[in-house]
Amino acid sequence: MRCRVLVLCAFICLFVLLVEGRQRKVSRSGARSVAVQNRQRNHRRTNNNNSNARRGNRLSARSNNQKRRRLNAAKRNKRRSSLAKKSERKSTSSASSGSSYATIPLDFKQNFVRTTDNLRADKVFVAHRYGGSFAKTNGSARLTNTGNMEYTCKMTLGTPKQSFTVLPDTGSSNVWVPGLYCTSKACRTHNRYRPRKSSTFIKVGKKFAIEYGSGAVQGVLAKDKLGIAGLSIANQTFAITTNEPGSAFVDALFDGILGLGYESISVDKVKTPVQNMCSQGVISTCKFAICMRGGGSSSRGGVIIFGSTDTSAYTGTNSYTYTPVTKKGYWQFALEAFYVGSTKVSGTSQAIVDSGTSLIAAPCAIYHKINKIIGCTETSSGECWMKCSKAVKAFTFVVNGQKLVIPGDKMKMRVRTNKGNIVCISVVTCMNTNFWILGDPFMRNYCTVFDMANNKIGFASST
Ligand SMILES: *[C@@H]1O[C@H](CO)[C@@H](O)[C@H](O)[C@H]1NC(C)=O
Ligand SMILES: *[C@@H]1O[C@H](CO)[C@@H](O)[C@H](O)[C@H]1NC(C)=O
Ligand SMILES: *[C@@H]1O[C@H](CO)[C@@H](O)[C@H](O)[C@H]1NC(C)=O
Repeated sequence: MRCRVLVLCAFICLFVLLVEGRQRKVSRSGARSVAVQNRQRNHRRTNNNNSNARRGNRLSARSNNQKRRRLNAAKRNKRRSSLAKKSERKSTSSASSGSSYATIPLDFKQNFVRTTDNLRADKVFVAHRYGGSFAKTNGSARLTNTGNMEYTCKMTLGTPKQSFTVLPDTGSSNVWVPGLYCTSKACRTHNRYRPRKSSTFIKVGKKFAIEYGSGAVQGVLAKDKLGIAGLSIANQTFAITTNEPGSAFVDALFDGILGLGYESISVDKVKTPVQNMCSQGVISTCKFAICMRGGGSSSRGGVIIFGSTDTSAYTGTNSYTYTPVTKKGYWQFALEAFYVGSTKVSGTSQAIVDSGTSLIAAPCAIYHKINKIIGCTETSSGECWMKCSKAVKAFTFVVNGQKLVIPGDKMKMRVRTNKGNIVCISVVTCMNTNFWILGDPFMRNYCTVFDMANNKIGFASST
């Protein structure tokens, strides 16, 4: 009797050993990716002192993992996955007992080439998942200032990169560059985009036309990679001009325009570069800042920063005054009051910040009042002339309860007349609008943050 029980026991033991051995073999090959994934998850939960380097590793591991999972989903059969689950449980416990992070095998996907696009997509994915953002990306481009009249920066299109000088314009929302087949003089005197030379060019073909205060252009829409400030936007829709009539852009110091306004004023409802930067995770915080410098030399042009509002090189410790955007088209806000010296010239009115305008344009009634106080002489062409020795009182713009003050000598501009004389003109001109257009003379004194995430505008005095 005892003997028979012993033999039975021996058989059972042998059977159990055999089955276990087989399971181990199968799970070692089939459940690897799941195990890795699980270990990562476990690690995240238990380890509170992740370094950035570890984080980086985790991102790439996850990226590989996702791809692999997708590829293998069809192949995997039921038994394998159930075995995988078992081994998953096993590896969880081994991970929590302190196995080193560095042992996670990353070699199982040999053909996968990690690109910056993979990594960025992955960062966006992870950032969304945790409602946070360690996908911190930002970039800045130098502005070139020509005679305090035009501020331009570099931009590239295509692969390989074709370079353009563009006007960063917060008063419009489209991107365009001269086209190779545009025969207008303005096109011939500027860099032209060559679609056939770019491997990332995508034809859209839709016709495009836009009018600015200063001129108009016509063209066709296309998509390509857009590079600016060291950042790269995939599939940016822009216009290749076919016609730039008249003289408006012939002598322009820029090839094209980089629109930085809201989508609602974008012709053909084209998604703006800033929108694409945000949706593609090129920048992690949906804001940009512009600081313009005076002096009119290229080395003192200023900066445009995407994805960051760190303007301390220009604003020092001066803090930003924020005000909500009142209408999402231009960067529009409520100007609560305006003073010249101690004289209140206007109460509440609307204003836009426009980096593409070289002057300040006030509603005409206000313009005339300002000129009376300054004591300058209005001309028929909408300028107000004075001797350069004339003292001008400070201008005060009241924004969200804060006084933004600009010294009077910054509110006049030296110009050469046709007769060769030097006179000074007020930087304020007259426009047939019911809102102010605060162009470069304003922006030269206040760095401006354009916060698309929170729809607000910030001003900080530049030093
Ligand atoms: C951080 O990790 C190290 C080893 O990787 C460990 O010795 C240390 O106790 C950990 N610190 C915390 C706060 O978890
Ligand atoms: C850009 O367009 C190409 C072709 O349509 C597409 O394969 C790619 O995924 C797009 N990239 C992004 C980031 O939208
Ligand atoms: C901007 O990028 C730098 C590194 O390129 C980083 O150190 C910094 O934190 C970033 N700033 C923001 C606001 O994302």
